[in-house]
Formats: sequence, C-alpha cells, structure tokens
Amino acid sequence: MRKPIVAGNWKMFKTKDEAVQFVEALKAITPSSDKVDTVICASPILLDAVTETAKNSDIHIGAQNMHFEKEGAFTGETSPVLLQDFGVKYVILGHSERREYFYESDEFIAKKVQAAFDHQLTPIVCVGETLDEKEAGETTQKVEGQVQAALKPLTEDQVKQTIIAYEPIWAIGTGKTATAADANEVCGAIRAKIASLYSTEVADAIRIQYGGSVKPDNMEELMSQEHIDGALVGGASLQAESFGKLLEAAA
Ligand code: G3H
Repeated sequence: MRKPIVAGNWKMFKTKDEAVQFVEALKAITPSSDKVDTVICASPILLDAVTETAKNSDIHIGAQNMHFEKEGAFTGETSPVLLQDFGVKYVILGHSERREYFYESDEFIAKKVQAAFDHQLTPIVCVGETLDEKEAGETTQKVEGQVQAALKPLTEDQVKQTIIAYEPIWAIGTGKTATAADANEVCGAIRAKIASLYSTEVADAIRIQYGGSVKPDNMEELMSQEHIDGALVGGASLQAESFGKLLEAAA
C-alpha cells in the first residue's frame, strides 16, 4: 500500500511570524508519519524559520522551486545545495504557475528533477491541462507527455520515489474541483503510462497527488479513489485548522 502524502503549497503568502505560528499549531495536530507524510512548502526566505520550528516533529518542509545548478551567476535563484543545507526534504517542480509565468519548459523541469535527487530532495512534479486542452479532449496526452519528460533523466528507483501532482490548471484557486472520478481517471492514466515506460512495480510504487481546490469537504472522497495518494493544496493549506482536517482525512 502507498502511504498518503499531503503537501501544503503556501505560494507567496505568510510573514515569518505567521509561518512560525502555523507550524507550531500544526505540530499539535499532525498525524503520525506512519500514517501520512505531511509537507509544508514555503517561500525560500521562510525556510530557515520553518525548518527550525518543525524540528523533531512529523512535519517535513519543502521548497516551491529551485535551480538545477549548485551555484553560479543566477541572480534571484535558489540552489539545491542550500535547500539541503537548511534541512528541506521536498521540492515542488514544474508548478503550472512557474510553467505559465516563468516560461519553464519540460526540458528545464527535467534538469531540476534530476538535480533534486542529486541533492537528496524528493521532487513533487506538477502536471496538468488547461481548460482549452480539457475541452479539446487532450488531457491524457498532455499529462502523459509532461510526466514522461520530467522523469526522463531518472533511474527506475528514483522514479519510484518521485511524487507526481496532477493539478488541472482550471481547478487551481478557482473553487472548481475535478470530480473525484475524473481526477482518479487521469491519475490512473498517469500510472498506466508509468507502467508502460518502466514496469508495474514502479507504477504501483509511485505516489500521485491531486491538486486544485482541495478542501476539507471534498478531501475524503478524493482520498477514497484508487489512484489518488494524497493532495497538493494551496488555499486550504494557509490555516493550520483546515490543513489539519485534510491530514486527518488522509491518515
Ligand atoms: O499547489 C497547489 C495548487 O496550485 C492548488 O491550489 O488548492 O488553492 O486550488 P488551490
């Protein structure tokens, strides 16, 4: 059985005080890591404070992006070496906001995915279709292509450890969630693609999250689906209480 993984993506929200208070509050209600992996992905400037506050708890800290190079003249970028140095365990890569606003390509994201493993970071690789693509019936083709490109540089063992987050772009921050059945169908197609590229063993091991307007009232149904192993959560991860309810539903 795959262990559920629920990750909060704070995006560009929270001051340092708010971040520390959130982690303190969440520590008291986080389920045991035997039942669910809990991850909070914060802005790079908050990572020092949140990793410190989360020490000796079941909360893991993630970054929301990084560069693939260890160091160099890349103004404004974050090195994977620094993430590792700060005790960060996960990194979101290829979020649709980065693909859209910062023009990140599949090839660029694949380099970051490889760099994550080179620095003992677990990548959460985001894939998903636009509303136009969905309406044109291109969802499966789009996400399968993104998955294949992102995993290309990895060994089979690394593929098994990767987290895929299926996030239909039209469902992000809009209040429109894919139905649990539709989300499961796409996550199932991703798993089938991985089986065809690697093996059933790899496909059975990889964890696939759903993301896009996940809330306490739809989490249970999403989590009951065969191919959904957790959630990548934006808005509902900003309050410890609502995020705690999502963790409870997944545990
Ligand atoms: O990374 C998280 C997703 O973009 C989902 O955001 O839960 O606010 O729709 P949301």
